[in-house]
Amino acid sequence: DAADTEKGTYPHFMLKEIDEQPFVIRKIIQEYQDENDSIKLDEDIRQAMNQTDRIYIIAAGTSYHAGLVGKQFIERLSNIPVEVHIASEFSYNMPLLSEKPLFIFISQSGETADSRSVLVQTKELGHPALTLTNVPGSTLSREADYTLHLHAGPEIAVASTKAYTAQIAVLAILAVDTAKAKGINLSFDPLKELGIVANAMESLTDQKDAFDRIAKDLFDTTRNAFFIGRGMDYFVVLEAALKLKEISYIQAEGFAGGELKHGTIALIEDGTPVIAISSQENVNLSIRGNVQEVAARGANTCVVSMKGLEQNEDRFVLPQVHELLAPLVSVIPMQLLAYYAALHRDCDVDKPRNLAKSVTVE
Ligand code: G6P
Repeated sequence: DAADTEKGTYPHFMLKEIDEQPFVIRKIIQEYQDENDSIKLDEDIRQAMNQTDRIYIIAAGTSYHAGLVGKQFIERLSNIPVEVHIASEFSYNMPLLSEKPLFIFISQSGETADSRSVLVQTKELGHPALTLTNVPGSTLSREADYTLHLHAGPEIAVASTKAYTAQIAVLAILAVDTAKAKGINLSFDPLKELGIVANAMESLTDQKDAFDRIAKDLFDTTRNAFFIGRGMDYFVVLEAALKLKEISYIQAEGFAGGELKHGTIALIEDGTPVIAISSQENVNLSIRGNVQEVAARGANTCVVSMKGLEQNEDRFVLPQVHELLAPLVSVIPMQLLAYYAALHRDCDVDKPRNLAKSVTVE
């Protein structure tokens, strides 16, 4: 409806769309739940997931980052090997395909030309395709065999926020549904856990001032910034860096915590911002080791941790959610930090230079 494409009282679409995320998650729960509180999904999609021996996720930009998280869900919960590919690279670096591949295209707009050209190519080979998109009538949706709708509502800001979290939520539901269809016994109820996520997201969007202040301290005068994480957090720091560079033009990179010492640490100077996410118990101590290494070289460090893993010096503690779904919560501060960094630098938040909302040329 019209209200969705107007800013209302918001200064920017991006801020409005960040705020909409808890509602989008609740909408997804509603749309993917049947009357017995079980997952509702097309039988055709269930079968396609059941029959494949390997999934190839194809996407670009933020949707690619959601795919990296989705791979973890599908592999860990439903035991199907998954590869994630950048759409524009797929035809040059085409992997050896398995016997029964299933292609999953992730695209907010459903119009990204790089992804579409892979779809054309894989259809010629006769392989089935499923598209996750926010626009059900879009090219990638029409041309694929199956579609899963993200239900995020129109996303207007060029920098993607609510589509990313919607993609991850739908991928979690798909992974669990597939596991159940395969007879794998899981204690993880994604619909229930996503409800907890929605509340956690809401408590974060209610604390915007905190992120405004942290952004001021970290980014107001810097030329560059680094984001680090391990395990699941690594994928979120890639997205965090992309958000920051897209709208604030600060040169930003996301790194695996352990990879820092293999090169990037050479760039750390007095005051260089290094933001670390720690939401995974198995890597909590090792990522903190990385934070100490850069702090010792003068970095302006900022740890965002999840409740239960926090330490005194952390700048922000996230409400606790299921570890697998932590990316849905830890990304919110990253989106808000990017937003305020861009705002403080007087950048055009919703329409950053040189970027398009959907890129329909290869
Ligand atoms: C463009 C946008 C990005 C987006 C990417 C993929 O580069 O600026 O925000 O992540 O395209 O778009 P899609 O619609 O396929 O998810």
